[in-house]
Amino acid sequence: MDKNLEAIKQASLEDIRKAEDLKKLDSARIRYLGKKGKISALMELLKNLPASEKPLFGKELNSVKNDIQSAIERKRKSLEDKEQNTSVSGFLDVTMPGIARRTGAVHPITQTINEIIAVFRRMGFSIADGPDVETEFNNFDALNTPANHPSRDIQDTFYLENGNLLRTQTSPVQIRIMKKVKPPVRIIAPGRVYRNDTPDATHGHTFHQIEGLYVDKNVSLADLKGVLHSSARQILGNDIKIRFRPHFFPFTEPSVEYDFSCVICKGKGCKVCKNSGWLEISGAGMVDPRVYKNVGYDPDEYTGYAFGMGIERIAMIKFGIDDLRLLYENDIRFLRNLK
Ligand code: DAH
Repeated sequence: MDKNLEAIKQASLEDIRKAEDLKKLDSARIRYLGKKGKISALMELLKNLPASEKPLFGKELNSVKNDIQSAIERKRKSLEDKEQNTSVSGFLDVTMPGIARRTGAVHPITQTINEIIAVFRRMGFSIADGPDVETEFNNFDALNTPANHPSRDIQDTFYLENGNLLRTQTSPVQIRIMKKVKPPVRIIAPGRVYRNDTPDATHGHTFHQIEGLYVDKNVSLADLKGVLHSSARQILGNDIKIRFRPHFFPFTEPSVEYDFSCVICKGKGCKVCKNSGWLEISGAGMVDPRVYKNVGYDPDEYTGYAFGMGIERIAMIKFGIDDLRLLYENDIRFLRNLK
């Protein structure tokens, strides 16, 4: 065989053998078989050879070309196998079962708020909002709560240095809304409230309420009872009963406290309802004319009702929890079961 050709063949086979990855193998291929490669250059040369030398050289050249081509193919296959082995089957057992990722969930308090909001939305209420830091006026004075009322006591209320306070109830949102819009007003206002209480199974220093307010012409206490009963049935089930007990709130007259029948024992009496068959939810009543005066409404023209709802209370009933603190300890093992 032509010496030059033989040398090229040996060099190319050596290059192919040494190529440690597909990229290097490809550059070896281009170096020998590419358009400007060494074999292609010899093909050009072949054209100009005397006719007597052409057949032999042509044959040798072709056989070298074939040898290089098949050496490259063999090497490519082995490199590809190697790559697959190291990237997948070498480290990873694709037959192993997968790892299920746990999904997050909405906190039970937020779930309860969202559900109550949805119920009142369907009944035509819109959502109002107020700040956690309130003025004494909105939280107390405007709600007809005189300066000597016990709920203003430093023991119950967190006062701030500038004379403002952390709202003790969502009721000040009533004032904010009535100062802004004329009747008819139909809102609910969910939010966080604060009281200087020692936490126990049923009390926290921070908790949640939903305030409701409906002011229009000829609104009655029966409307209030109807709306509370209907919402209770939608939130906790169709067999829920509701009852009013006479009470006093400075901003409503008449005022009531209202209870839902115990969902655990269906009103028969159990530990949760302390054998009474009823669960206290919160207060409500007809808006006091003095409150209307404070916001510039005419008490002779308008009547309306207001109500509060303790969210934690409802969440506890809904999820069957007997200690409020469980909701805030953020023990994921507990919360996971409340989806
Ligand atoms: N704000 C009261 C509380 O925190 C609850 C309440 C009672 C709200 C009567 C009202 C109402 O709107 O009319 O105890």
